[in-house]
Amino acid sequence: MVRRNNNNSKEQSSINSMSSSQFQGTKTRFQDPDEEDALDTSNPEGSIEVGDRVTEDVSMGEPDVSFVDCADDDDKTSADYYFDSYSHFGIHEEMLKDVVRTKTYQNVIYKNKFLFQNKVVLDVGAGTGILSLFCAKAGASHVYAVECSHMADMAKQIVETNGFSDVITVLKGKIEEIELPVEKVDIIISEWMGYFLLFENMLHTVLHARDKWLVNDGIVLPDKASLYLTAIEDAEYKDDKIEFWNNVYGFDMSCIKKQAIMEPLVDTVDQNQIVTNSQLLKTMDISKMAPGDASFTAPFKLVASRDDYIHALVAYFDVSFTKCHKLMGFSTGPKSRATHWKQTVLYLEDVLTICEGEAITGSMTVAQNKKNPRDVDIMIKYSLNGRRCIISNVQYYKMR
Ligand SMILES: C[S@@+](CC[C@H](N)C(=O)[O-])C[C@H]1O[C@@H](n2cnc3c(N)ncnc32)[C@H](O)[C@@H]1O
Repeated sequence: MVRRNNNNSKEQSSINSMSSSQFQGTKTRFQDPDEEDALDTSNPEGSIEVGDRVTEDVSMGEPDVSFVDCADDDDKTSADYYFDSYSHFGIHEEMLKDVVRTKTYQNVIYKNKFLFQNKVVLDVGAGTGILSLFCAKAGASHVYAVECSHMADMAKQIVETNGFSDVITVLKGKIEEIELPVEKVDIIISEWMGYFLLFENMLHTVLHARDKWLVNDGIVLPDKASLYLTAIEDAEYKDDKIEFWNNVYGFDMSCIKKQAIMEPLVDTVDQNQIVTNSQLLKTMDISKMAPGDASFTAPFKLVASRDDYIHALVAYFDVSFTKCHKLMGFSTGPKSRATHWKQTVLYLEDVLTICEGEAITGSMTVAQNKKNPRDVDIMIKYSLNGRRCIISNVQYYKMR
């Protein structure tokens, strides 16, 4: 089992680095973004490729803007960075070095210049300005790069250094508060996806921008995002992280176990641990959806492909750019090349003894936390009516 850490946000992962560091149903395969020449190959079954992995099917979050300080204070301490992690270059380094992520955006833009030529683009949450630079190079007539953290100051310099000041305007501020110098834009581009797709809730910021500024026939990139669920054997790690609390140097600390199991774990899952098929839970059409569509209940049926034990359910997402000449996108699934989003592991209280062909059925409910909209509440109902195991349970999780 690979080493795991329980960092549930890009922000936390940046903070740690500062202080010390497809498969699915059977429809979509994404090309490895490093393999430039084969990027837009789609197979007759409608699959997209990611490296040599095959997906079975295909189906969010705003960084808490209240955590993102837009003030002009350069004397920042580590405590400031804790609440303003997107101002630190470390998190941008991690995102830029995620080749699956960044190269896919680059390929989408460079291989589909027809979408950008003479078009006005809005980059929602521009960070270092990387997506704006790609768009400018692809022939956009103007790009508005909106970024609320202090990284906006760097983005301005980067744009200038690279000679794009006449095409890219960096605006420092929150999308929800800034004024654009134009009434409408033709394209909205953004990398808004959080762990478990929806954590950090930046999707709402993109939808806000779409409803305010996008022309009627305008496009949103990416325009589709899908969430999937599968089941894994994970005895070793569950023992280490969850059962550990039963006996700590001879003392019963199992009250902490209840909390530990409620926190989904963000980490990479070895594909050999996967015991069932993968189920598409939800596909969101970013160009049409309402903010409320990010809360949903979806049924699932996970059928075992071998006799094994199930310790956890695993969620992951794909994003697609369907307006490209040929479908492009990437998957964060355990059978695809790893991304910084990894996968989200939800441990089960029960160990399910499952036989090949038997199915875990149930539903997943996903909702924004009422107190903190950037947190995600998850409820999973599951049952197995098998030869060796009959079980039914409801579990609650919180991404925070
Ligand atoms: C996931 S990063 C992507 C950065 C860059 N587009 C890239 O691809 O490398 C999201 C960025 O959006 C910014 N952001 C989040 N919410 C925002 C908001 N409401 N208004 C403006 N920027 C926002 C964050 O500060 C962060 O830099």
